[in-house]
Amino acid sequence: MSEKQDPFNAPFGTLFGDHMAVATYVDGVYDYPGAAVPLENFSLHPATHALHYASECFEGLKAHRQPDGSVAIFRLDDSVARMIRSIEKLRMTPPSAEMLRQLIIDATTANASFTPDAPGSLYIRPTFIGTAPNIGAAATPSTEAMLYCINSPVGDYFAGGVRPLTIFIETDMPRTTPQFGSVKSGANYVMALGPTLDAKRDHVADQVLFASGDDVTETGAANFFLCDGERLITRNLDDSFLHGITRSSILQIARDMDMEIEERSIPVAELRAWAEHGEMFLSGTAAVIAPIGTVITQGETITIGDGQPGGTTLKLREALTDIQSGISEDKHGWLTPLNS
Ligand SMILES: Cc1ncc(COP(=O)(O)O)c(C=O)c1O
Repeated sequence: MSEKQDPFNAPFGTLFGDHMAVATYVDGVYDYPGAAVPLENFSLHPATHALHYASECFEGLKAHRQPDGSVAIFRLDDSVARMIRSIEKLRMTPPSAEMLRQLIIDATTANASFTPDAPGSLYIRPTFIGTAPNIGAAATPSTEAMLYCINSPVGDYFAGGVRPLTIFIETDMPRTTPQFGSVKSGANYVMALGPTLDAKRDHVADQVLFASGDDVTETGAANFFLCDGERLITRNLDDSFLHGITRSSILQIARDMDMEIEERSIPVAELRAWAEHGEMFLSGTAAVIAPIGTVITQGETITIGDGQPGGTTLKLREALTDIQSGISEDKHGWLTPLNS
């Protein structure tokens, strides 16, 4: 991609910075040369472990252009910590937090010139793949791995910008398996794909909110919140869903606004009742804060309020994006400035 290509007129995630950073793991040791290299295709053995047994995980975070033109990464250390947890859940040896952090910084610094102005950003995709050429290793971890980071200049995740989404509530199928819900592994996303495509086709829904066992959790790629002027409610953390870093940022911002926070189970009946008086939204690095205007559940289509983005939802979204783009004070130390 050239720096002139417009991320607002390209699908999310289809443009790339021209550098990447790559480390390898062989014989129990990580080797990171310590600098970004030009982006190029990999050559992988057809028996590569990740291609057969899904020994793969990744992260998604963003760098934002600041008012002085510099670029800063949002909540880098939280993503580093989550990726290390994901690699451990794959039963592989993670790199040190310092190495992973530096690898992300090196790739993102090399690609920083691709960062669009707000509301655009530079999406950061650290990725880990088991690379041992061994199709007999279905029940053993890969003995070799590759850890790399690429960047993608992005505009809006949902085509059409901030618009109220239509969400289908799936009460039969979970998003993924209970033991892998909090792991950011590609296998989870392909499991959520079928129900999401079915809901798009059958209900013209934008996303599926998974609520098996009458337990409202998250969509295929975002966490879920109920809110009104005073209260913010979201599912309490356990292994069943991804511990969103945007989720944690929103909870902190709401605390700073003296809102009442509830982290607990949300039954579908409560969600339905909430539609009559409150607001709902999704949160994620890609989605930022995406208002929900319509919910489809048990054969009924329910409009949330007047179907338009709610005031509290928009207030929280603005508070978050103002911190990310350096308009508001970064009082929790969430930004890591890059040296240009
Ligand atoms: C399944 C899932 N849930 C929630 C989220 C939100 O996590 P975060 O806010 O860290 O991006 C994501 C990622 O965007 C996700 O893929």
